[in-house]
Formats: sequence, structure tokens, C-alpha cells
Amino acid sequence: MAKTSAIRYSCSNCGAVYFRWAGQCSECGEWNSLCEGEFAGDHKKKHSNNSAIPISEVTLKEDVILPTGIDEFDRVLGRGLVLGAAILLGGEPGIGKSTIALQVAAQIARTHRVLYVTGEESLSQVRLRSDRLDAVSENLYVIAETDMESILAVIDRLLPVLVILDSIQVVSHPAIPSVSGTVNQVRYCASELVKKLKMVGCAGIIVGHITKDGSLAGPKVLEHLVDVILYFEGENGFQYRLLRSFKNRYSSTNEIGVFSMEEKGLQEIANPSGLFVDQTTLNNPGSMVVPVAEGSRVFLVEVQALVVETGYGMGRRTILGVDPNRGNLLIAAVEKIVGLKLSSKDIILNIVGGYKTAEPALDLGVVMAIFSSGHDLPIKRRIAVLGEVGLTGEIRSVPQIDRRLGELEKLGFEACFVPKRNPLDETFGKVKLIRVESLQESLRRLSEINS
Ligand SMILES: Nc1ncnc2c1ncn2[C@@H]1O[C@H](COP(=O)(O)OP(=O)(O)O)[C@@H](O)[C@H]1O
Ligand SMILES: [Mg+2]
Repeated sequence: MAKTSAIRYSCSNCGAVYFRWAGQCSECGEWNSLCEGEFAGDHKKKHSNNSAIPISEVTLKEDVILPTGIDEFDRVLGRGLVLGAAILLGGEPGIGKSTIALQVAAQIARTHRVLYVTGEESLSQVRLRSDRLDAVSENLYVIAETDMESILAVIDRLLPVLVILDSIQVVSHPAIPSVSGTVNQVRYCASELVKKLKMVGCAGIIVGHITKDGSLAGPKVLEHLVDVILYFEGENGFQYRLLRSFKNRYSSTNEIGVFSMEEKGLQEIANPSGLFVDQTTLNNPGSMVVPVAEGSRVFLVEVQALVVETGYGMGRRTILGVDPNRGNLLIAAVEKIVGLKLSSKDIILNIVGGYKTAEPALDLGVVMAIFSSGHDLPIKRRIAVLGEVGLTGEIRSVPQIDRRLGELEKLGFEACFVPKRNPLDETFGKVKLIRVESLQESLRRLSEINS
């Protein structure tokens, strides 16, 4: 019988595995990137004695949940850290991953043993930050180590309740020949750590850097390995940080946590509804406020559009914060349905404060901001806009409208454009409702308000 070879080749760029060497990786197109190596799956297959059982005989096991006491963090996780669960904390460099990880570590260390593995910073740097964040504690153990085998051994000895690995890109396991940060290393180290977490029954936060386009080896290749994926978002130079979950085996992924970066670390913002509205620009053309529903909360966001004559032959589109596909679709809808000539115009769309959302309820706000900028028609008073726009210009209903309008009322808004398809009265509390059925009608009412 032919002996099967254990030798495989894997691409150091994308991680694709091959049985034969080739000059170019057919997955990612990179040249000379295949190297020989042993892989985690190469061990001889173990035959398990387990047999399948009827689902009714499966015993239920309660997850042990440990709240961190940082409400904005717990909100995104569900209720808190689940013992045995691996959490990937991704984000661009400098966004505050190490800071929040240390703050969470300090909270848990009030009652339990925590291990903080720093691969990027020295112990004294971590100590310095801990002093600043008030995170020094007898139960918080630190180690500066990048060898994954040693890290796993320390976990075995210390048996902590929470391990923080900062970051996955700098650790390496001797079983894998490639250098740290490569897809193989990152994937192998993470899977070893995840196995250990399950075995020891401790929660793990794996910090991973990600570049603007999300392409760096690391977080993306780990997505299926971990139980929870959190991403830290925010704009450079902007004080607020948003924590979102993209995957959560224990809770919904709708909730977002809001923090502000201060001298003493990341501070929670419990009432963030008005944070993303710039009060100074509200009466300018091209600016609309939309109440966006995220999980259990409503955020008021300000959509801005700038429509200007292009300096080039073809108008350019720059879309930030709004989903680019949705933005382009809405620009096309304005052009076709309202007859605003936009092909020779540059259009810039933005959401104030670096906020990002793909909520369809934002549509009408985007369209009205474009129209308002194009025709120089400001919304003069405190009026908000709400509605999804269909391809034929109909305004479709939006979910959770009562909560959104309630938030507007709380913040003193006078009126709101709402879809006629939502069954509503003429007013909601003190907020007058401008009920609209189509794009044309919305823009006519906007012009009327201004006349
Ligand atoms: N002394 C300080 N006072 C206030 N903020 C600080 C201080 N030192 C660092 N920061 C903030 O912390 C951020 C770095 O956070 P960090 O947790 O190291 O990010 P990451 O781990 O995501 O790379 C900096 O961008 C800065 O905003
Ligand atoms: Mg860091």
C-alpha cells in the first residue's frame, strides 16, 4: 500500500495548504510563498470511543458567567465573561485594546486570579499603565513572554480565571517553523490557547491588531476559532470608542459599548444618545439627524452630505460611516427619482464622530442631506429624519419607532420625518410627526419647511 506523505506546503501569505510545492499560491496569487511544514492536523487520527446519543440524553451544563463590572463591556458580551470562552479583541493599533484588557483584568482580579501575558510591552510599561489605570492588584499576574509553549505551561501552573494574551501577532509556537505573525503561527497559537482555556475552564481575551482594511494576518483567520469577537472602533483623534461584537456564542451581537478615552483609561458612557450630533452644524445645509437603534439603545447620529461641482470630468463619491453600497444606491435614487443632476458633482457623505452604521432607517436622512446640500436647503429647526428608501422612491417603515421617537422627545426635538407606513398619530408626545410616503413628498415637505 502506498505510504501517504505527511509533508504539506502552506502559503505563508494566506495559509492555504497544498500537498505539492508550487511557485505560486493559487489561492492568493503570491509567488514563492509556499513552505514545507508539519501541521496541527497531521497527527495520527485518534479513534474516539464516543458514540452518538439521542439529544434528549444530553445533559445541560450551565455556563459560568463572571461579570466584569464594566457595564459597557458586559453589555456587549451579554452578561459577562464566560469561563472557558475565548474572546478575540480586535482593533487598529492605538485604539485602546491593551487599555481595556488591563481594565477588565483589574476588575476580575478583585476577586479572582488573572494572568496578563504581554508580548509587546515590557513588564515595567505594563506596570506604568496599571498605575495610571488604578489596576495594580495582588491577584493580577503578569508575564512578558512570546513563546506559546511557556505561556501554556504558566496557565497550567497558575490556573487563572482569566488570561489576557496581548497580542496574538507576537507569539510563536516551536512546533510551527514560520515566524510570529504569519497565518500558520497565529492560527496554531490561538487554537492551542483555546484548547487550554476549555481544559482549564478559564476565560481568555486574545488581543489582535487589524489594519484599516482588516487584511492583516491575525484576527480574520481566527474568527471561526473563538467564541466571541469584539472589535474596538473609533477615529484617530476622536475621543469616543465603540465596542461591537461581530460574533457571540452566548448573546446577541446587536449591542454596542461606548467609551471615552481619558487619562485614567477608558471611561464608560452610559447615555450616549446625543454623542454623535454636532450641535453647531445643525442649521447648515446638508446635515440631518437620524435616531439609529443599536441593540437596546438609540443613538442620534448626524449624517452630513457635501455636494459640490467636480473639478474633474466625472463626479467622485467619498462615503464614510454610511455603508458605501447603500450610499451609492441612494445617490442613484436621488438622481433618478428627484431629477437632481449628480454625475458632474462630487459627493461626500459622512457621519459625525466616526460613527459607522448600515441601518436602513438612515436612508431618508442620507437622501435628504444630499438634497439639502445640493439645493442649499437647511433644516432650520430641530427636526430629525427617519425612513428606509426603496428603489422606486417609496419610504418604507422602520422597526422600533416608538423607542427612537422617545429619545428624540427626551432630547427636545420638535419634529421628525417618519414613514407613513408606520401606524402613528400626528404627534408623538411633544414631537410633531411629518408622515411621508415617497421621496418626492419628503423633499417637497423639506422645501415647504424652508419657505
Ligand atoms: N498617559 C496617557 N493619558 C491618556 N491617554 C493615554 C495615555 N497614554 C496612552 N493613552 C491613550 O491610549 C492609547 C493607546 O492605547 P492602547 O491600549 O495601548 O492601544 P492598543 O493596545 O489598541 O494599541 C493612545 O492612543 C492614547 O490615546
Ligand atoms: Mg496594545
